[in-house]
Amino acid sequence: TECSPPTAATNVSQYACLRRTTTENHNKIFTDVFEELAENSEFNESKGPCLAFRRAASVLKSLPSAVHCLGAIQGLPCLGEHTKAVMEEILIFGRSFKVEEVQSDERYQALKLFTSVFGVGPKTAEKWYRRGLRSLKEILAEPNIQLNRMQRAGFLYYMDISKAVSKAEAKALRSIIEETAHWIAPDSKLALTGGFRRGKEYGHDVDFLLTVPEMGKEEGLLLRVIDRLRDQGILLYCEHQGSTFDMSKLPSRRFEAMDHFEKCFLILRLEEGQMEGDGGLQKDPGESRGWRAVRVDLVAPPVDRYAFALLGWTGSRQFERDLRRFARKERGMCLDNHALYDKTKKLFLPATSEEDIFAHLGLEYVEPWQRNA
Ligand code: CTP
Ligand code: MN
Ligand code: MN
Ligand code: MN
Repeated sequence: TECSPPTAATNVSQYACLRRTTTENHNKIFTDVFEELAENSEFNESKGPCLAFRRAASVLKSLPSAVHCLGAIQGLPCLGEHTKAVMEEILIFGRSFKVEEVQSDERYQALKLFTSVFGVGPKTAEKWYRRGLRSLKEILAEPNIQLNRMQRAGFLYYMDISKAVSKAEAKALRSIIEETAHWIAPDSKLALTGGFRRGKEYGHDVDFLLTVPEMGKEEGLLLRVIDRLRDQGILLYCEHQGSTFDMSKLPSRRFEAMDHFEKCFLILRLEEGQMEGDGGLQKDPGESRGWRAVRVDLVAPPVDRYAFALLGWTGSRQFERDLRRFARKERGMCLDNHALYDKTKKLFLPATSEEDIFAHLGLEYVEPWQRNA
């Protein structure tokens, strides 16, 4: 049968910030495979292939319908010979032998398992693998392994925090943290960011920004919120990072560099009765202990950086990468979580909203729910 490219394929941008990507992914059979291949490349420190797989997945996520034949991807950006060969395999056999080979690889399995623990990155995972360790049980039983505080919490709450967080749980946490913040600073504002702001139904954590309308008043606020959460008995773990923010610094060129805002990585205890929609009903007590642990990220930028922080923490990661790449390559500007700098004019471009930032970049505004690149 005829298989012509959808008209949309002719004008799909290589930049995620020029595409609209909702949570509705019509090409999951391909993107799941590419994401797994990207992760494998990351474990092998193959940066080029990793990025290529991520970009290919991102382009496919933006398509309005499922790809049924190779003709339909003619003219799409970011799909090279290698990625097309993988797609062809999936179209013909309904599976990818390449990804099955990766999935059955002992090293891949171990690194994926180890990095699923909060606080364990690829470097640590690799070290454990080289020592011959293959399971979480073996790591815990190994007397010579020194776990840091974050990793100890990661193991302690492993079952809970590897379970997806629902939108209802995110909302419940929002109410709790908001109430706590208002008790300390009545004019403080708590905003949901990350995947839930993009309209996702589930997440691996819940991300929030906390600000106050007056510059400088955010200092010390986060620590007081943390203290209060501890007093309430719901703080299971807290890693606090003070602000290292320097207004005069140019935006970072390294995407993966951490931002400089005061923030904390938390594990909170969420009571099941606190959730909307469950009617406060207790589940079978044999099945549940009545609460679960949830990962929460809480960031406190100064109010004049709020728009940049909100844009940066809303994601997706691929959307952020492309927004920065677009700014640099197409506009000669430098964007990060703190600021936007015009390198030609040698000046910072201020913004009070995300719309301001898109306008500075000469981009049409992309709604948070369209940023699931
Ligand atoms: N982010 C950041 N600095 C960090 C951590 C995260 O700027 N130190 C940004 C990332 O760019 C990401 C967003 O915050 O786009 C949310 O990160 P994360 O919670 O890891 O991902 P989500 O998109 O929320 O997805 P998930 O549901 O898995 O949490
Ligand atoms: Mn998140
Ligand atoms: Mn994530
Ligand atoms: Mn997060």
